[in-house]
Amino acid sequence: MNLFNVYPLIPVTIAKGEGCKLWDEQGTEYLDLYGGHAVISIGHTHPHYVKQLKEQLDQIAFYSNSIQIPIQKDFATKLGELSGLPDYSLFLVNSGAEANENAIKVASFATGKSGFIAFSGGFHGRTSGSVALTDNPKIVAPCNAREDFHILPFGDLDAVEEVMKTNSIAGIIVEGIQGVGGIQVPSAAFLQGLSSLSKKYEAKLILDEVQSGYGRTGKFFAFQWAGIQPDLISMAKGMGNGFPIGGLLISPEFKASYGLLGTTFGGNHLACAAGLAVLEVLETEKLQANALELGEKLKAELAQISGIIDVRGKGLMIGFDLDRDAAPVRSELVNKYHMFCGSAGKKETIRLLPPLSVEWNQLNSFLVALKEILSSN
Ligand SMILES: Cc1ncc(COP(=O)(O)O)c(C=O)c1O
Repeated sequence: MNLFNVYPLIPVTIAKGEGCKLWDEQGTEYLDLYGGHAVISIGHTHPHYVKQLKEQLDQIAFYSNSIQIPIQKDFATKLGELSGLPDYSLFLVNSGAEANENAIKVASFATGKSGFIAFSGGFHGRTSGSVALTDNPKIVAPCNAREDFHILPFGDLDAVEEVMKTNSIAGIIVEGIQGVGGIQVPSAAFLQGLSSLSKKYEAKLILDEVQSGYGRTGKFFAFQWAGIQPDLISMAKGMGNGFPIGGLLISPEFKASYGLLGTTFGGNHLACAAGLAVLEVLETEKLQANALELGEKLKAELAQISGIIDVRGKGLMIGFDLDRDAAPVRSELVNKYHMFCGSAGKKETIRLLPPLSVEWNQLNSFLVALKEILSSN
């Protein structure tokens, strides 16, 4: 049987990982500055994470959400503590799209309305509601297209208010920092404006922190830089350091009732063990502070390099544009310098999402490689 061929692949087979390092089948070492799309938060095969998962696997890996699962509560308590949002409730799922799908549902149930607003450059996943709110017509199938889902210009509060006046909007969804769209940081004023408009027109504000959350920007969630309190917050990627887990944080204004939401796999024992281990490492190794310190230092250095024209982002969620097509530069980084980074938005953009445990000497080796490539082409 063949695999359904939907992914253009880099011709490298990774056999082992540790921290920010990867090794291919021949034993060649690579530097991981992309974390498999921001998933590797605490570093590959972190010893505490591996130990906790193995111990959980020896006990029980899964049982459905029809029994008591105390590790879910331990996980929620730790998450409340580290995120600074102990009053929110947690609904556990398996992916970012699923977290957003449930956010949309909760907002619609609560308001009795069906319309949603999202923004140009946004990406929220590939399931029906999430993809209909994603600004990429190529991945929206005819059955997903929704007339009452509006994609408005990113940053344009007037356009938002114009649509909200129709009183048909259940919610607004926005990324803490746009990832796939090329690392576009919303201004604090824009997020604050969305927060007031959603209150004014009785809609719910959903912050998609699937990529920007979990300490990556130096705060637990990127929106916390703007000092707002969203109604719903979706998370995934860095939550499990590679184990599939997603979650939705639900503010105290919402009432739960049996059967309102549900999932078979979400919140299973093994996923919670992974999630809890990630939080413990984030806290003990102070990775959020590391992300802020090294990320800001890296951005300052990148801005000095000739051939780089725009550096964006916060902490270790960084995007920058080159004065040329980035694809050959990324290929050279992988093939010659053995460094992984990502693409996003425009063809000139390079996206960096390294594990939050990355060290300065590793980031510096990337700067050296990049300078060499940009000055020799
Ligand atoms: C901001 C954002 N939301 C949602 C998703 C979808 O997450 P998943 O691929 O886990 O469904 C992604 C994935 O890249 C994302 O970047």
